[in-house]
Amino acid sequence: MERTLAIIKPDAVRRGFVGDIIKRIDASGLKLRALRLMHLTRAQAEAFYEVHKERPFYKSLCDYMSSGPVVIAVLEGERAIPRWRELMGATDPKKADAGTLRKDFGIDVEQNAVHGSDAPETAAREVAFFFSSLDIVS
Ligand code: CMP
Repeated sequence: MERTLAIIKPDAVRRGFVGDIIKRIDASGLKLRALRLMHLTRAQAEAFYEVHKERPFYKSLCDYMSSGPVVIAVLEGERAIPRWRELMGATDPKKADAGTLRKDFGIDVEQNAVHGSDAPETAAREVAFFFSSLDIVS
């Protein structure tokens, strides 16, 4: 069993896609183990995306991620990390496969509807960033 962190980003929450995206998660067989609605402060967005600090899009990304509420979830299942990434699709919605969340709900390479951890170490850090063990249903 593997756990991963999923975020439904401000563009998707703002446009009313939370229900659609959670429905896709349920249909995929991945299990919701924790769920919260949060409006990140800029400092929280900066800390979460610290790994991208040197990237040219970092400032804009942090502005965007703190621009409105997000839905944050812990997903669990066999191969949860790659399965959630497959469901999300490529970072740029224009390059994402048909039927993926980013293709269907993303706007552009920044406002791309959803986030997912990219590796087990990242998932552990990202889950712990938002949730304590008491928040996660086992
Ligand atoms: P995410 O998977 O959350 O990881 C980092 C985020 O930075 C990414 O999704 C996008 O929201 C954003 N991002 C990645 N590449 C670019 C880019 N070239 N220009 C703007 N934003 C980007």
